[in-house]
Amino acid sequence: MFPGRLSDCLNVDDYRRAARRRAHKMVFDYIDGGSDDEIAQFENHTAFNDYRLAHRVLSGVDTPDMTTTIMGQKLEVPFILSPAAGNRLFHTDGEIGPATAAEAVGTAYCLSTLSSRSIEDIGALTTGPKWFQLYVWKDRVLVKEMLARAKSAGYTALILTVDFPITGNRERDPRNGFTIPPKLGLKQIWHAMNAPLWSLDYLTKPSVKYANLADDTSAVTLNDFVAQQLSADFSWDDAEWLLGEWNGPALIKGIARSDDAKRSVKTGFNAISLSNHGGRQLDSSPAPIHCVQAVRQAIGSDADLIVDGGIRRGTDVLKALALGADAVSFARPYLYGLAAFGTKGAVQAVRQLRDAVERDMILTGVGALDELDQSFIMTIK
Ligand code: LAC
Repeated sequence: MFPGRLSDCLNVDDYRRAARRRAHKMVFDYIDGGSDDEIAQFENHTAFNDYRLAHRVLSGVDTPDMTTTIMGQKLEVPFILSPAAGNRLFHTDGEIGPATAAEAVGTAYCLSTLSSRSIEDIGALTTGPKWFQLYVWKDRVLVKEMLARAKSAGYTALILTVDFPITGNRERDPRNGFTIPPKLGLKQIWHAMNAPLWSLDYLTKPSVKYANLADDTSAVTLNDFVAQQLSADFSWDDAEWLLGEWNGPALIKGIARSDDAKRSVKTGFNAISLSNHGGRQLDSSPAPIHCVQAVRQAIGSDADLIVDGGIRRGTDVLKALALGADAVSFARPYLYGLAAFGTKGAVQAVRQLRDAVERDMILTGVGALDELDQSFIMTIK
């Protein structure tokens, strides 16, 4: 059965199917797809099945404490909303959806540099914590400008994405003729006719563009845009320069190896996000959940550790924490909700994950997140 109404959606897969039904094919595939054979993307989620949670009984938990502190900032739940580009392409509400959802559950929203609503608009929208994500742009003046804008708009942490020197080989995008902003050729018009609600929205609202960039970029593929604008030769020295410019809490996103994690700590990052960009960059990169134990052992308590990738259930969150992470992050769960139902879809999807974490803490018998340790983990293979 297709979940046609918001009230029908009980889990992330329901939002995914609803998004597929409403969104233009190239838009759905952009959210949904990974690189090459989509092995990394698939495994990000299925790798959680390598672990089981050995629940504890009679521990007297009825209202678990879900609060945690990441980079010195208190969050009401152990997850944050990962940055994602161009949300207005998915629904006209754009980044208003996830920013509102993050505030609704008391967590941090991470705005992408390539957002379709501006740093300032999202900064003014909510009172909840907001972090700003940066790619490694060629133009250092632009980088400094972005940092200054993020600071003055109230963003309290920087996220440097480091697994994106060039765009991964996402074969769904060229097959669909995907560009930002979209170019409507014959194929796209045909697909648009199959997505009337999306098309009405798209055609009657202001055009979608990267809201933080001064110039209107004409429709180009993501590969071309990234090759023009981002710097593939960025190094650890440049990262250090960036941290000096920002001079505040900072997270490095896209780490898979213990040596890189140690280097991140040495360079001055306060938090590390184990991530393969949702399986959209290097295919066959390891599932982040498989990297947690080794990286935690390598860095000790020198930095906060976040697992990004494949989170669909409350149990996924608890497994990541029991293995040694401090929090998790995700984008597709709220993007499917947004693409299907706008802000209310993103909010409901995120609230359901919050409720799932609470329920699963009770079922696991833990009253506070720091009780979760390896004793709860049973490894299946
Ligand atoms: C992506 C980039 C833009 O994954 O973050 O599409």
